[in-house]
Amino acid sequence: MDQQDNVFLILIFQVMLVAAQTSNEDYSGLQFLTQSWTNKPPNWVGSNPCGSNWDGIHCTNLRITQLDLSYNTGLTGTIPKEIGNLKNLKSLALVGCGFFGPIPDSIGFLKQLTFLALNSNRFNGSVPSSIGNLSNINWLDLSDNELEGPIPVSDDQGQPGLDLLLKAQHFHLGDNKLSGQIPPKLFNSSMILEHVLFSHNQLAGTIPRTLSLVTTVEIVRFDRNGLTGGLPSNFNNLEKLSELYLSDNKFNGSLPDLTAMNSLTYVDMSNNSFTSSDNIPSWVTSLEYLTTVILGDNQLSGTFNISNGYSNSLQLINLQNNAITDYKPGNQKINFDVILTGNPICLENGVSQQSYCQVPEVISSYSTPPNNCSPQTCSNSQISSPNCRCAYPYTGSLVSRALSISNFNTSDYKDIEKSLMDSFRAQNLPVDSVSLSDPMKNSSNDNFQFTLCIFPSQTDRFNRTGVSQIAFVLSNQIYESPEFFYPYFFIGANYRYYEGEPKNSSSGHIGIIVGAVLAVVALLVLAVLAGMYTIHQKRRAQRSKEQNPFVNWEQNNNSGIAPQLKGARWFSFDELRRYTNNFAEANTIGSGGYGQVYQGVLPSGELVAIKHAAKESMQGAVEFKTEIELLSRVHHMNVVSLVGFCFENGEQMLVYEYIPNGSLMDSLSGKSGIWMDWIRRLKVTLGAAKGLSYLHELANPPIIHRDIKSGNILLDSHLNAKVADFGLSKLLVDSDRGHVTTQVKGTMGYLDPEYYMTQLLTEKSDVYSFGVLMLELVTGRRPIEQGKYIVREVMKIIDTSKDLYNLHSILDPTITKSTKPKGIEKFVELALRCVKEYAHERPSMSDVVKEVENIIEIVGINHNSESATTSEVYDVEKGGDVIQPYGNKDFNYSGTFLSAKVEPQ
Ligand SMILES: *[C@@H]1O[C@H](CO)[C@@H](O)[C@H](O)[C@H]1NC(C)=O
Ligand SMILES: *[C@@H]1O[C@H](CO)[C@@H](O)[C@H](O)[C@H]1NC(C)=O
Ligand SMILES: *[C@@H]1O[C@H](CO)[C@@H](O)[C@H](O)[C@H]1NC(C)=O
Ligand SMILES: *[C@@H]1O[C@H](CO)[C@@H](O)[C@H](O)[C@H]1NC(C)=O
Ligand SMILES: *[C@@H]1O[C@H](CO)[C@@H](O)[C@H](O)[C@H]1NC(C)=O
Ligand SMILES: *[C@@H]1O[C@H](CO)[C@@H](O)[C@H](O)[C@H]1NC(C)=O
Ligand SMILES: *[C@@H]1O[C@H](CO)[C@@H](O)[C@H](O)[C@H]1NC(C)=O
Ligand SMILES: *[C@@H]1O[C@H](CO)[C@@H](O)[C@H](O)[C@H]1NC(C)=O
Repeated sequence: MDQQDNVFLILIFQVMLVAAQTSNEDYSGLQFLTQSWTNKPPNWVGSNPCGSNWDGIHCTNLRITQLDLSYNTGLTGTIPKEIGNLKNLKSLALVGCGFFGPIPDSIGFLKQLTFLALNSNRFNGSVPSSIGNLSNINWLDLSDNELEGPIPVSDDQGQPGLDLLLKAQHFHLGDNKLSGQIPPKLFNSSMILEHVLFSHNQLAGTIPRTLSLVTTVEIVRFDRNGLTGGLPSNFNNLEKLSELYLSDNKFNGSLPDLTAMNSLTYVDMSNNSFTSSDNIPSWVTSLEYLTTVILGDNQLSGTFNISNGYSNSLQLINLQNNAITDYKPGNQKINFDVILTGNPICLENGVSQQSYCQVPEVISSYSTPPNNCSPQTCSNSQISSPNCRCAYPYTGSLVSRALSISNFNTSDYKDIEKSLMDSFRAQNLPVDSVSLSDPMKNSSNDNFQFTLCIFPSQTDRFNRTGVSQIAFVLSNQIYESPEFFYPYFFIGANYRYYEGEPKNSSSGHIGIIVGAVLAVVALLVLAVLAGMYTIHQKRRAQRSKEQNPFVNWEQNNNSGIAPQLKGARWFSFDELRRYTNNFAEANTIGSGGYGQVYQGVLPSGELVAIKHAAKESMQGAVEFKTEIELLSRVHHMNVVSLVGFCFENGEQMLVYEYIPNGSLMDSLSGKSGIWMDWIRRLKVTLGAAKGLSYLHELANPPIIHRDIKSGNILLDSHLNAKVADFGLSKLLVDSDRGHVTTQVKGTMGYLDPEYYMTQLLTEKSDVYSFGVLMLELVTGRRPIEQGKYIVREVMKIIDTSKDLYNLHSILDPTITKSTKPKGIEKFVELALRCVKEYAHERPSMSDVVKEVENIIEIVGINHNSESATTSEVYDVEKGGDVIQPYGNKDFNYSGTFLSAKVEPQ
């Protein structure tokens, strides 16, 4: 039974369907990118970014929508202007690589972008004002580069600027060399910014009053610049402001009054020139959520009087190196740190021994302890995980851009460990445990960071997929950190321990980190859809199953519009489980790399073949939709039809009509025991030709099969031929006609050499394969047998001046044995025209249909009459007159030959 092969091949073609249609614009954009890089992901070969799962790329509707190459330090080069070609990009993450040079202006063409993370590279030049054109941007992270010049804002001449980004919540521009003022125009009340992070630049001037119009702001980091003056008087409008970093500037005047800012948790105004007229203002101790106040290295004077009480949230008040002369703690027990070293009060006799005159260790060391087990002694640079197993962890630095607490205690570390594990588990990633160690404050930007080790489950190391998926979760902010740690970023180290690779291969594992984009996103999409279908299934009771099951499809923005189905019905997973007796082994009619094929019985008694895609061969929702749409539109008696499909619980299944008599290949080889005389071969040829002609000329849109061969022609109980496996064929859109495909596919022996060489795919490539199939039918030989190519063999001996065109030696003895088969010369002539070298010299499939009909007329049978029934067929067989047409029985025809695919170049 060979239906399974057909069915599996469909999956191969699915990939090609996508590949062939990958937008040229996107492809050429990527080509330009890699041309200026010294390294690129190793699997970026060929020309099918979407079709062949290039690392770091995710496609939707055949356009590239996500590009994530983060944490590949070996990936260096500039970003050429052609990045602007990737117009459908929604997310671009190039975090922690070695990119340098300017960020091209053309980035402004990526109008769909919502997530742009270029942090931790060496980009220089200015921030392109065209970023202001990216009106959908939510996350803009250009931190930790060498960008210079002003922060661009729009002007009257039509130049765009960051003030136009009304959907942005994150401006992360810290750790650059930006200069000039913070433009007042940058902020207005239409914005929804939450994080305004400009620390460690060379900004000057004062904080603009307009900032206070953006009442959504939660974190402001202007520390380590050259800002002057005080806070604008309307600053208290920022009701949600939680963290305020103003340290290391030239602010002056009185310490601002923040009494009304009830959301504040963390304030650092150290190393400025703030003064206090009399006493330290009371907001320092009274604000309800305030944990940390750092006011050291200013010119504060007077008394620090907290005898009146203080907020329970307080962890630290640092007033070091000021001019404070008195401290009044009152009689209460103080359970937070007060630091007054470097003030006159600590110079007084007898006071210097007080704890507030010592500098406490703010960050105590930490290392995740073992989880009720004894750590192992590991060799080969493996590390004992918290669960005491030796393994190679994926490591990196997890950094908080704005910590809202100062006493990082054990339970905080546990929170981070747990939230990390929760995120990895939610994505089904193979992570056993995580450990944190080496906490430190980066002295150049005050970021708090530690080393994160992520340990693999099951095995002692991750594979590329695993590392990629983890990296994607961190680079794309899918990990939800505890609030006190947010916002964070992660910089991954190279992972050197992939299975089967030299441990110290030097070239920086380019591309490793990234393939996951696809996988994780696909997981997400499938998870969403699975949820959708579960709900759908529950509501389904009173609904007719014929109803379009994709009614909710639109709700998932990435999946395009709902599939248009004609006739194919939706099956629930449970139904198909019942029909196959719980996918019983006994019902398997085939299996292979692409999944299992089961025979099933519908309640109506109808037999079906159910192809259950293996997890690895599943396609994205969009591709699956395209596939079933295509299959459901095809209805012809000589084409295997789709009965329905299942798309639920993350499963993908296609349900086909069951074709009982296997493939033409099995019949020719004798495997199925079906006797193929000349007349039956003519009828099968006619049926297959009609099916193919339908696909080429009547299906809408037209379909090029791309893998016509005897294994893909199935025989029903009347021995009618049915073309199978067009599922992953090439859809022919008008503008596509005759276009260059990106990947040659087909089966050796049947493959059109012109297509192979030019990659120009037309219907005529199927005609070529069909010609080979006809020669196979007439000779009973495989297309390539014992090194001989059937086309060449026939051409070599054919002589039209001789009897039977001199083909005696090569014709299948089964059909020449008794009587001389009529019409065989015309049949061979037609076959040879199908395999002409140049496509334009070959007939169309409808011509082939007509000519085969003519031959059948000559032979003198009525091709419209009832075909033979199965029982007749087997009678013939039982009559004992069975000759194996494929003489060499040792050769396992259905083995490797079938799967001999042309590899992409
Ligand atoms: C950005 O928008 C301005 C006008 O709004 C236009 O002139 C410019 O070409 C755009 N640039 C890019 C790179 O999209
Ligand atoms: C950017 O860096 C490159 C070298 O990395 C240098 O050649 C170029 O002059 C720099 N451009 C600017 C504007 O600083
Ligand atoms: C905010 O700025 C944008 C761009 O400059 C402008 O389109 C919008 O009208 C402004 N909103 C207000 C309330 O001023
Ligand atoms: C204070 O800030 C200035 C920049 O304004 C910086 O150069 C200096 O190193 C800082 N001093 C301390 C003690 O951090
Ligand atoms: C703050 O410093 C600037 C110069 O850096 C000066 O012009 C201004 O008067 C100062 N403001 C106060 C209140 O001292
Ligand atoms: C400290 O504050 C309390 C309450 O406001 C006040 O009663 C007391 O006199 C103050 N002490 C000094 C030394 O200012
Ligand atoms: C750790 O600090 C948090 C506040 O950040 C506090 O709620 C918690 O009680 C502390 N836990 C321990 C064990 O000290
Ligand atoms: C990678 O590892 C995961 C889980 O550890 C596994 O499911 C997957 O099959 C592996 N992929 C490859 C290509 O080996």
